[in-house]
Amino acid sequence: MNLYKKDFPIFNNNPKLVYLDNGATSQKPQLVIDAISSYYENSCANVHRGVHHLSDVSTTIFETSKKTVASFFGAKNSELIFTRNATEALNGLAYGWAMNNLKEGDIILVSLLEHHANIVPWQEVGKQIGTHLNYISLTNEGLLDINDLEEKIIKHGNKIKLISLAHVSNTLGTIAPINKVISLIKKHKINCKVSLDGAQSAPHMKINFAKLGVDFYAFSGHKMLGPMGIGGLLVKETLLQNNEMKPWLFGGGMIESVYKEKTIFNEDLSERFIPGTPDVASVAGLATACEYLNKIEMEKVEQDDKALVKYALDQLSTINEVEIIGPKSTQDRLGSVAFIYKGVHAHDVAQVLDGENVAVRSGHHCTMPLHTENKWVATVRASFSIYNSKDDIDKLVNAIKKIKTIFK
Ligand SMILES: Cc1ncc(COP(=O)(O)O)c(C=O)c1O
Repeated sequence: MNLYKKDFPIFNNNPKLVYLDNGATSQKPQLVIDAISSYYENSCANVHRGVHHLSDVSTTIFETSKKTVASFFGAKNSELIFTRNATEALNGLAYGWAMNNLKEGDIILVSLLEHHANIVPWQEVGKQIGTHLNYISLTNEGLLDINDLEEKIIKHGNKIKLISLAHVSNTLGTIAPINKVISLIKKHKINCKVSLDGAQSAPHMKINFAKLGVDFYAFSGHKMLGPMGIGGLLVKETLLQNNEMKPWLFGGGMIESVYKEKTIFNEDLSERFIPGTPDVASVAGLATACEYLNKIEMEKVEQDDKALVKYALDQLSTINEVEIIGPKSTQDRLGSVAFIYKGVHAHDVAQVLDGENVAVRSGHHCTMPLHTENKWVATVRASFSIYNSKDDIDKLVNAIKKIKTIFK
């Protein structure tokens, strides 16, 4: 029996549900739902600007929640900029950092497995200032081709200004070899920043921003048991202090003083990136999700996830029609298992599974370049969270076995 499932009311309300679409969004524990309603029931008032008691209460909730979230990620309070999600965080990186620091001819490197959220903003930056977007290849197994990266570093040197990678791939499950990437940057002495798209790593592994050694880290709260509409961008403090990372949204809240013709931005780094009213209830909900995960311990979350991924790989590989994509070893992957059912479109597979109450995702999972390169029309993805168990995978496998009887 899974220890955590009872904490998630969705399963009480949908007792047959086998939810394996956590890569898209996770379910929310009652504690998180309560934190949001409690905020609106007891403490709702605008933050920072009010003198009255309730505004003070709301500000305290916002500030303490922010500390909790920053500390969950091993980051300083000032290093956390709240956004709506990872997509907005990566756009913040594009508009707040790249647009202000890069110039025509500079190179941004991503890998072929990136989610569109880590591709499209860089294409837009390129349109506006003339930077180039280059893709690091993958090995046949779907691992980052570190030799290709080294060749690119040797060829382009200091023209490469940013390497932006999915920490964990939402399609292949691949974990980026971030230490090797940083070692190559050091070895070849290039002056380039490193960014991680942590949308799929934050829910499954312990993140210590200080130890990771990267400059930026983007995440979505809703994939890590928190509410929709809140996420963040972690930025190395030095890049905020030296004003390399600038605000990309402007208005009230983030200012020190405004004159008719100019504005002085807030000296306080935390405040400088809060234009307008923040989503205090969602920040409180996200902090509660972090506290809940802290209690379980992220090391255990990762261990359990790896065991589930291994079990899913083992069980799915017993079905002849199933071709699993992504790395073979659980060492190199986390969070999900995607596959092709030979001869049946992924959407049809997902529909049969839905008939058996198994919720999976089908399509290109916002990784069209990866699918195009591999000539995959669409794939099916089962992705996991803490409330999933081997029993869910057995139900998935049994449901997949029904496909044969329908598509003869
Ligand atoms: C790897 C990766 N990056 C970015 C995103 C975008 O996340 P969001 O839609 O929460 O902005 C996703 C969402 O699936 C993802 O899997």
